[in-house]
Amino acid sequence: MSVRIRILRFDPSQDERPWWGAYEADVEPTERVLDALHYVKWYRDSSLALRRSCAHGICGSDAMIINGVNLLACKVMIRDLEQPIVIEPIRGLPVIRDLVVDMEPFFAGYKEVKPWLIVDEDEKEPPRERIQSQEDRERYDDTTKCILCAACTTSCPIYWADGKYVGPAAIVNAHRFIFDSRDRGGRERLEILSGKGGAFKCRTAFNCTDACPRGIKVTLAIQEVKRAALYDSV
Ligand code: SF4
Ligand code: F3S
Ligand code: FES
Repeated sequence: MSVRIRILRFDPSQDERPWWGAYEADVEPTERVLDALHYVKWYRDSSLALRRSCAHGICGSDAMIINGVNLLACKVMIRDLEQPIVIEPIRGLPVIRDLVVDMEPFFAGYKEVKPWLIVDEDEKEPPRERIQSQEDRERYDDTTKCILCAACTTSCPIYWADGKYVGPAAIVNAHRFIFDSRDRGGRERLEILSGKGGAFKCRTAFNCTDACPRGIKVTLAIQEVKRAALYDSV
């Protein structure tokens, strides 16, 4: 079938402002938006810039706004969308070209929360694996599912308005370690997230939870981090 697609294009080296490109793509109803974008790039206009890698919802590189909603292009079927399919880059990060945004500010927020296992000096070389009960593992199971696609952070109005906010994805990844019984960096992370750009910037807008392609309860994770910071309960 032939589908109509409108893509917000912008190449800072030659465009003064963004413009809408209109295309037709020959794809099956059961194919994904990513297939339609490939069709446009391969058969209509090879200058179209987009990021993708796995095409199966795992690498997190093709988050974009599709018909007004933050989605992964490789997960959405053509038959589930109204036409024309309108595609824009995710918001809140500088556009490098077309659908490719600069992810550096996003990863800067991620790095701020120290998303790695922190242990005490005498635990650095344990004689055996670090044991954890099933209940302890369950405590942070949801937040291990993050693929760092930035769909949540770039749907958050607080993040759009305040470049200092680390954003929901960073807090999700802090949660993953704060509530890990093997980790000793919880207090340090909670201190960071109690600061100016931290979890208390969140106004429970819930856009992040709606946007997450992994179904992570992002707002709940943020609330748990806030509660832990307030009651020192790690
Ligand atoms: Fe993407 Fe969900 Fe992780 Fe946010 S929490 S970066 S939406 S996978
Ligand atoms: Fe933003 Fe999500 Fe909070 S959309 S305001 S981080 S609940
Ligand atoms: Fe990897 Fe879509 S291309 S998540």
